[in-house]
Order: sequence, then structure tokens, then C-alpha cells
Amino acid sequence: MDAIKHYTQAPLPFIGQKRRFLTDFKTILNQCIADDGDGWTIVDVFGGSGLLAHTAKCSKPQAHIIYNDFDGYAICLQNIKYTNHLRKIIFDLTQHVSRNHKLPENVKNQVQAALKSFDGFVDIHSVASWLLFSGRQATNLMDLLSNHTYFNCVRISDYPSADDYLCGLDITSKSYADLLSEFLERDKVLFLFDPPYVCTAQGAYRNETYFGMVEFLKLMRLVRPPFIFFSSTRSEFLDYLDLVIGYKLDGWEQFAGYRKINVQVCLNKNAHYEDNLVYKF
Ligand SMILES: C[S@@+](CC[C@H](N)C(=O)[O-])C[C@H]1O[C@@H](n2cnc3c(N)ncnc32)[C@H](O)[C@@H]1O
Repeated sequence: MDAIKHYTQAPLPFIGQKRRFLTDFKTILNQCIADDGDGWTIVDVFGGSGLLAHTAKCSKPQAHIIYNDFDGYAICLQNIKYTNHLRKIIFDLTQHVSRNHKLPENVKNQVQAALKSFDGFVDIHSVASWLLFSGRQATNLMDLLSNHTYFNCVRISDYPSADDYLCGLDITSKSYADLLSEFLERDKVLFLFDPPYVCTAQGAYRNETYFGMVEFLKLMRLVRPPFIFFSSTRSEFLDYLDLVIGYKLDGWEQFAGYRKINVQVCLNKNAHYEDNLVYKF
């Protein structure tokens, strides 16, 4: 295969993509899997934007990489031309409004009319990133049209096409439990776990089911090494692991001796937080 272009962020907006973690992720990947990954399978169980699967493919080009595209992100990538067309329409309608200012009612009405009449694929998360403030999300077009205040955060330029971004990945779309049942008994399989963070808003994701505490506990019954697990300090993940290991709760052996990397995430000059990458080989 030709050398793959290495993306350091997902080509289209995706809340929760792990772009700030890529350096540490690659370091851990190299510790777990030698050379080019020949003979290995890497399963990106909560694939989201595919950024981890893509990065794994760049680092370990001979490995078989499964990207679990639960949200249909690959379809959004295939339809970038519609997203760019819609962006241009909305940009033209809003360009006289100051950046990041609220849209006046008449402009909002024009934008909504354009959204309703648009004859093509609508990538709701991209559209939301142009009109809603500070990472707010809409679950679908109906929601975007009914419940929100609009601002002018419209992207100034088109998204570049990203035909090669998912190149070499094996794309599937399954709930994590079904996917894991296919791989848990196999050797030389590394699992990447980046589930929705419990106790946080999940409006950006496919949302028939909220990924809550019970789902998290079900997932933890399936986790086994080698794995890399992304965790938020806000979800008390490390405290949970220490509890399981300390009291030797069911399955504690899967986590005993885990290692972690602290990742400082800087959102802006006032907002920092710390997350962890937990791993065991
Ligand atoms: C934090 S995001 C993953 C972000 C990803 N690592 C990235 O870099 O873009 C969590 C993902 O898990 C997905 N998800 C939610 N419930 C799921 C389930 N039952 N099975 C598989 N994936 C699920 C969400 O839709 C979302 O795409």
C-alpha cells in the first residue's frame, strides 16, 4: 500500500475525537505492538470519527484495523460535497452578521428555510457546529429547526475532501457487545475503548440509547487485555478500577497492574482538565 496521508484531526467536526491524545496513543501502540503490526488486529470499538483507527493504520500499516462506525461518520465523509454546498448557502446568508453574534430573527428564518429546502445530504453535526454556540449539539434536523438560538460560527472555507482518510480500514457498525463477541477469544487482538463518558452530555452521538452507568458496567465485564482505554477524570474511571482491584471484584485480574498516562487537555487559556489513558498488555 502507498504511504497513507496522516490526519491529525478528523476531517469533519466530531465531538470527543481524540486529537489531543494522538502522541501518547502512538507511544503506547508502539509499546504493545512491534514493527508494522503484521499478524495483529486492532479493534477500535467506539470508533466515533475513526481518528484512532486511522492513526493506528498509519502507525501499524500491516495490522488489520476494525473501525466501528456506530454513528455513520463514513457516510458524512462520502457526502462532503453536499456539506460544502450547504455551508456556502448558509455562509452567504449570514456573512453580514458579526462572527459569533446571535443571528437576527429574519436571518435565522432564512437559514431555516434553506435547511428545509436543501436537496441533498445534511450532516447535522457539521451544520450544528456552524450555528450553535460552544459545542452545543442537535440530535437531528427537526431538533435544530425547533429548539435553538443560532449564532454566526459558520465555517469560512470548504472542508477538503478526505477520500483517503478511511483507507485500509475494515469498517463495521455494531453495538460494542456484538463486535466484542467476535474477537474476545482471538489472539493478537488489541482493543481500543473510548466509550461515551458516563455523566457527560452525549447529544452528539447516535442516541437511541444513552450510554449510562449500567452500559458502562456491562462493558467492563467484557474488557480484557491487551487494551487501551480512554478515560475522563470526570467519570471516576481510575477510582472505579482501584475499587475493582482493591476488593478483588469480579474480573479484577483483567485490570490488575494496569498502567496509565495522564493527559493534560488545554481547551483555552482558562479551561484545562486532565484525562487518562489506561492500558494493559
Ligand atoms: C467518545 S466517542 C469516540 C470518539 C473516537 N475515539 C474519536 O476519536 O473520534 C464514543 C463513541 O461511542 C459510540 N457509541 C455509543 N454507544 C455505543 C454502543 N452501544 N456500541 C458502540 N459504540 C457506541 C458513540 O456513538 C460515539 O461515536
